[in-house]
Amino acid sequence: MSHSAAPQPMTARRSGPLRGEARVPGDKSVSHRALILGALSVGETRITGLLEGQDVLDTGKAMQAFGAQVDRVGEGEWVVHGVGVGGFAEPAGVIDCGNSGTGVRLIMGAMATTPITATFTGDASLSRRPMRRITDPLAEFGAQVTDREGGLLPVTIRGAADPVPVRYRTPVASAQIKSAVLLAGLNAPGETVVIEAEPTRDHTERMLAGFGATIRTDITDEGRVITLQGRPELQAQPVAVPRDPSSAAFPVAAALLVPGSEITVPGVSRNPTRDGFYVTLADMGADLTWTNDRIEGGEPVADLTVRHGPLRGVTVPAERAASMIDEFPILSVVAALAEGPTVMNGVAELRVKESDRIAAMADGLRANGVTVEDTRDSMTVHGMASVPGGATVATHLDHRIAMSFLVLGLVSEAPVDVDDGGPIATSFPDFLPLMRGLGAQIG
Ligand code: S3P
Repeated sequence: MSHSAAPQPMTARRSGPLRGEARVPGDKSVSHRALILGALSVGETRITGLLEGQDVLDTGKAMQAFGAQVDRVGEGEWVVHGVGVGGFAEPAGVIDCGNSGTGVRLIMGAMATTPITATFTGDASLSRRPMRRITDPLAEFGAQVTDREGGLLPVTIRGAADPVPVRYRTPVASAQIKSAVLLAGLNAPGETVVIEAEPTRDHTERMLAGFGATIRTDITDEGRVITLQGRPELQAQPVAVPRDPSSAAFPVAAALLVPGSEITVPGVSRNPTRDGFYVTLADMGADLTWTNDRIEGGEPVADLTVRHGPLRGVTVPAERAASMIDEFPILSVVAALAEGPTVMNGVAELRVKESDRIAAMADGLRANGVTVEDTRDSMTVHGMASVPGGATVATHLDHRIAMSFLVLGLVSEAPVDVDDGGPIATSFPDFLPLMRGLGAQIG
């Protein structure tokens, strides 16, 4: 669904202590992959804890368009009857991935080695994001691609009738590129290899192994070398989706910043390829306690307790960027209230997310009285004892920009407004009731 709906302005104001349990939604990355691998396997995949955000619902609709049966059977509980590797049918209409870069890029990969044609589109934000990082490697498999100037959507892919396996080194740290190549490799004969210099989130590799593919990761001097054997018969599996550490980051940050707060977040993913934000918070002196570490659905999860306390600015090394790539907007809000500057290095990829997140955060923080310096691939936020607030922030159809500034408003002197909170529904549909339930004044 493209977001043509009227903007939904929202306001957050200074709040008393946040208390309670934050049951954040299912992980967005795992949810997309569960639907796509369910659609590519034989038999019934029962998914529990699926994120029912618009991004994931759009991927579910796309899987139906490619011939899978996708049914909602309860809250967060979905059943997929797949068509098997190479079994996708040609969709009758255009595939609209709405706001979701992960959705469109992974689905392009999943169909690129099947001899069908599909056209992909999305909302105004997605239509500004680069697609050649995906379509270039897909062309190496033999897919034919037609796109707009600059590699923008809409993109039409004519899948390879006679695909060849590919050995591909990702030019930037991106789990979407890695995953698109691996999903395309499923229907190519022989071994498809992806080499990544920096580790990125590994949900695709974990889930492919869980569905019975032969896939291995070797750690070498060039980085991670991931080798997938093509043409497996994927076996449908139950998938228990862990809670999303990227969504948890918002109530966690709010509890750290609002004096007197203490909250718990149960069952949140602790996948080491996703934990950079929590590592950084620990460096800043945050009071975080992890308990009850366990494995659920092939992913490590634990319960997290967060208490308010003083924080100090830190330097986030470039090597950590991939493991917290979606958390820099909310980290920059936390940094605004830490003692001293926080320097974020190696963050150029933020410029091609749902918005240019460096520009959006720098503009919004400055408008609210915070000093920020930015370069092409870094951002420095100067912490202060109290943030004036009082500005309206442009969110550029970006859910994480909207949620970040609503958290800022909980601790700033004057309320913070966002011009459009509508996109929050792409990843965290219950953000407002959940935050209000903890005591946040947001509306
Ligand atoms: C994702 C990968 C990341 C991340 C996105 C989800 C995924 O994008 O920003 O929200 O599920 O693979 P990149 O791979 O482009 O860094």
